[in-house]
Amino acid sequence: MIDKELLDEIKYLRREINKHDNLYYNGAFPEISDSEYDKLRNRLNELETEFPEIVTKNSPSKRVGAPVGPTSKKIQHKSPMLSLDNAFSEEDLENFLHRISKFLMIQQSDISFCAERKIDGLSASIIYEDGILRYAATRGDGYIGEDITQNLKTIKNIPHKIGIDGELEIRGEIYMPIAAFEELNKRREEADEQPFSNPRNAAAGSIRQLDPDITASRSLKFFAYYINSSDRDVVEMTTQCEMLNLLMNLGFEVSAYELCHEKDLMDFCNRTANARWSLEYEIDGVVFKVNDIDLQRRLGFVGRHPRHSIAFKFPAEEAKTKLLDISVNVGRSGKVTPVAILEPILLSGAVISRATLHNFDEIKRKGIAIGDTVTILRSGDVIPKIISTDPTKHHPDSKNFDVPEYCPACGCKLVKRHGRVDLFCSNRYRCPSQIIKYISYFISKNCFDIVGFGEKQIEEFYTEGRIKSATDIFKLEEADNLAPVSEKLSQKPGWSDISVRKLFESINKSKTISLPKFITSLGIPGIGEIAAQALSNKFGSIENLSRASIEDLSEIDGLGKITALEIFDFFSDELSKKFVDELLEFVHIDPFHKREIEDKTNRFYSKNIVFTGRLAKFSRTEAKQRAISMGAVVGSTISANTDFVIIGDNPGSKLKKAEELGITILTEDDFLSG
Ligand code: IVH
Repeated sequence: MIDKELLDEIKYLRREINKHDNLYYNGAFPEISDSEYDKLRNRLNELETEFPEIVTKNSPSKRVGAPVGPTSKKIQHKSPMLSLDNAFSEEDLENFLHRISKFLMIQQSDISFCAERKIDGLSASIIYEDGILRYAATRGDGYIGEDITQNLKTIKNIPHKIGIDGELEIRGEIYMPIAAFEELNKRREEADEQPFSNPRNAAAGSIRQLDPDITASRSLKFFAYYINSSDRDVVEMTTQCEMLNLLMNLGFEVSAYELCHEKDLMDFCNRTANARWSLEYEIDGVVFKVNDIDLQRRLGFVGRHPRHSIAFKFPAEEAKTKLLDISVNVGRSGKVTPVAILEPILLSGAVISRATLHNFDEIKRKGIAIGDTVTILRSGDVIPKIISTDPTKHHPDSKNFDVPEYCPACGCKLVKRHGRVDLFCSNRYRCPSQIIKYISYFISKNCFDIVGFGEKQIEEFYTEGRIKSATDIFKLEEADNLAPVSEKLSQKPGWSDISVRKLFESINKSKTISLPKFITSLGIPGIGEIAAQALSNKFGSIENLSRASIEDLSEIDGLGKITALEIFDFFSDELSKKFVDELLEFVHIDPFHKREIEDKTNRFYSKNIVFTGRLAKFSRTEAKQRAISMGAVVGSTISANTDFVIIGDNPGSKLKKAEELGITILTEDDFLSG
């Protein structure tokens, strides 16, 4: 008889696994790490093995992945999409070798393997009929997946046509390269959107977008690892390595692979683990597959796993350490973020003493208290983060962190803005932390581009009372001329006549600035270089921009509602208006240089254009950027004001609307040739 406590634990485990499966497969924001998840599953397996009477048909242990969401179109897989059994040690690998050798009655040394990298993405199945890409699906619960055809077609390294007739299924992994992931998160942070926690979640979130245009802008990629054909004569291959070769010949990318024997396996693991952090995508292990396809067939399956292959998982890049404190950082636009101060610890080759905590809700949600032992995770080049704390191990002296009510730098009351979870210090022009960070931003390359000093010197100048706001930079030279010798800048340690002269030269040179750079340097939340160029193209002058309505602002493609509100708020604020006016007394926005566009005779200059459909030659983001840099205003919806619609593959309803309105329609090549 199984006692109530165990039954409760089983119920708890099933509920948790279901919840996390759902967050992992159907959503993009999982809450626990892979190893914590593995622990839940292992414990459930343990209990179900011990008490087989409690196993139910619906137990998560009977399933791979998660049921597909209720709203999406479903696709039944030709054959189940299963998963691989895992090995975590050399011993696990030896057991695997032993198992298959015993099963096949072949000596271990006579079996060859195809060794591949295990890409950390999400698996997809693509169906081609007579060489044409017909549809594509996620893994879903392994039997029924979600239709992602339109979104998958935007992935550039997936061919839409292949040179094989009949029906063919290609399986592989959709992933997001680390550089694209970091770029995406930078953009999301700028726009005050929740950043993705790792490239895999970002890929999952991107492929499940309702709008294929968004997927297209996310720079996803695909590695193929499997061909499934009912017609064996059409696809001739006898080994896994040949399969990968054939995939390459068909135009797919495959990840690096090698033919290995028993003695080479650990060496492949070690070499790949060493190369792990220098690859442009994330891998979480390697996969060994029996190379001979006939042997694969003979080996068959055990439960949810094929017997012929195994995934050797790299140890998790996680470590436990003590949370010494939580400090509060005030950013240049006033956003207040908690930062974990940790007892320094070595993690994948780097000493970690700080980790991000994103926002205050996260501290509460994770039950983190100062003094606790916390688990930190490092993935790719991404800043380490705290993934969990052990609630049963609260240190007796641990103390809860109180969300600050007042800005730690200036004491002003913190507020929430535009429905965001983050807290802000709204004392933009008086908070020392904001001012120092803002001035450092103001002089940076994409803004006034002043060389000769950096954040450290700005902090000093601020503390010494030489500069109190960004505009004081333009008064520095005069003040220095009037100062008594002992107080001149050149007398300060680290400065000389030459370095001071160079600084003043650079400041003077910066006084002529283009409109996009001027807009960028205002430091409005969510306005980076690209958005500033788009605003500059649309409004043409700072006066027009300052008078723009929320509706005018919202018309710009890629500018979210919150960013439109931020711009509007900025120009409605008396202190900001005063700041801009004061700035304009010193600087000159160069009208000839106003749009930073050399060739104003190009046909897109000052025109409203809309992109639709999948572009073949470059990503949507790059296309938009090109158009903006030619002086175009890129919109997201077609209206009577639209001058050009540029179409790629599968343009959809926007093309129809453009035709109805008689708008000039251009192909990608027309656009490129200008
Ligand atoms: S073969 C029966 N090869 O890892 C599943 N999988 O559980 C056969 N993966 O679901 C998969 N890289 O999403 C295979 N080179 C590779 C892979 C790979 C990543 C993923 C795939 C699979 C999971 C293993």
